[in-house]
Amino acid sequence: MTEQEHNTGEVAMLTIGGRTIELPVVEGTEGDKAIDISELRRQTGYVTLDRGFANTASCSSAITFMDGEKGILRYRGYPVEELAEHSEFVETAYLLINGDLPDHKELNRFRMMLNDNSLVHEDMQRFFQSFPRDSHPMGILSSMVTALRSFYPALIGMPRSEAILLTLTRLLSKVRTMAAMSYKISRGHRVIYPRLDLSYCANFLNMMFDNPVKPYEIDHDKVKALNVFWILHADHEQNCSTAAVRLVGSARVNLYAAISAGMAALWGPLHGGANQAVIEMLEQIQAAGGDFRPFIERAKDKNDPFRLYGFGHRVYKTYDPRARIMKAMCDRLLAKLEIQDPLLDMAKELEEVVLRDSYFADHNLYPNVDFYSGIVLRALGIPTNMFTVMFAIGRLPGWISQWMEDAGDPKWKIYRPRQVYVGPAQRPFVPIHQR
Ligand code: ACO
Repeated sequence: MTEQEHNTGEVAMLTIGGRTIELPVVEGTEGDKAIDISELRRQTGYVTLDRGFANTASCSSAITFMDGEKGILRYRGYPVEELAEHSEFVETAYLLINGDLPDHKELNRFRMMLNDNSLVHEDMQRFFQSFPRDSHPMGILSSMVTALRSFYPALIGMPRSEAILLTLTRLLSKVRTMAAMSYKISRGHRVIYPRLDLSYCANFLNMMFDNPVKPYEIDHDKVKALNVFWILHADHEQNCSTAAVRLVGSARVNLYAAISAGMAALWGPLHGGANQAVIEMLEQIQAAGGDFRPFIERAKDKNDPFRLYGFGHRVYKTYDPRARIMKAMCDRLLAKLEIQDPLLDMAKELEEVVLRDSYFADHNLYPNVDFYSGIVLRALGIPTNMFTVMFAIGRLPGWISQWMEDAGDPKWKIYRPRQVYVGPAQRPFVPIHQR
């Protein structure tokens, strides 16, 4: 059940249309305060207008805390830095979904369930084969997640919590398998099946890169890097795709449909698509001779829609804590693997110049998680068009836990924002021959 915000006893006074009304103030566990306007329209006839929900809390949530001014990110109270250092992705997924860290028995059971549910129905392979070879993997994945509902419908006769546990385990496990399958099929290669003896992350890398001619050697540094990459993406409170999952889920659709909506939102270049956009931007700079200054000037020009991908964030007005961890990991991984990636050198130089530029300082624009994540993924051998898929796999535990929280909220309401109508006033219909 969702923990609820508490009433502080404070009120905000609003005077409008000659009346003054009191709006209660509520507070969360980390001291963030909100004016509860849920009775505003009933009492005054007014709604609030807040484009992009920049100032609106659509729910109370006990999952993830972030402080954009201080650069803090915690899952269920645990700092992301500590999770990245000490946890593995499956354990962090358990934490997000269940609210607490697992003990040995719980973690082993969860791992086993993930392994037991890793296979994808053979008939689904035919779907993969039918997509055009150059389809974007995000389009394929979101369609296939919706299709999972037909192959694995809700289980009748099973207690609800068991059915949900099985559904979410299937999702976590099969989405990873499907992502690797789509890569293999796109290359015209034989699909590699998941193995019972491999961990979640090692299994994924093996399904991606093993082949009958050259068996894949599991590299522990790569497995560790993938764990950290996915932990850093595991949740991020009410961002665009999570809000989409909660909004679509609030209509009481099945989990698969809600997650597929989240994937569609994540695909956008202003959101999860930014990791691909960063690498494409760096490659473009490289192709133009390596001078990034014209790109910086374009990003600052208000008449040019170009933006420096990997910079800026709606909530973080300081360095994104995930970007800090990702950058350090990127350095470590490339050194360990003895990879020289000129894009990493360019990215670091670009960051230095950007951070000294007053435009970016004045706008509080710092590197976000996507700025270095693409370089890590390249080092793992992941092709650029699969970067957002990698983000999506990592975000699954967050989407699932947010969907579950909404579904179990005693104050649940279907999401249904209001609007300020600015279209034509009432006018009579004119038959077509009189127009
Ligand atoms: N390059 C240049 N200028 C920027 C950038 C950027 N990357 N980001 C924001 N700005 C400027 C805007 O032009 C605007 O300037 P103005 O006030 O002078 O008009 C100001 O900063 C505020 O920008 P908004 O778009 O209003 O900020 P918002 O909070 O709505 O957007 C967003 C946040 C979408 C992330 C934005 O910073 C952006 O487009 N960044 C590039 C894309 C990117 O990296 N996305 C990944 C985000 S992290 C994630 O989703 C996982």
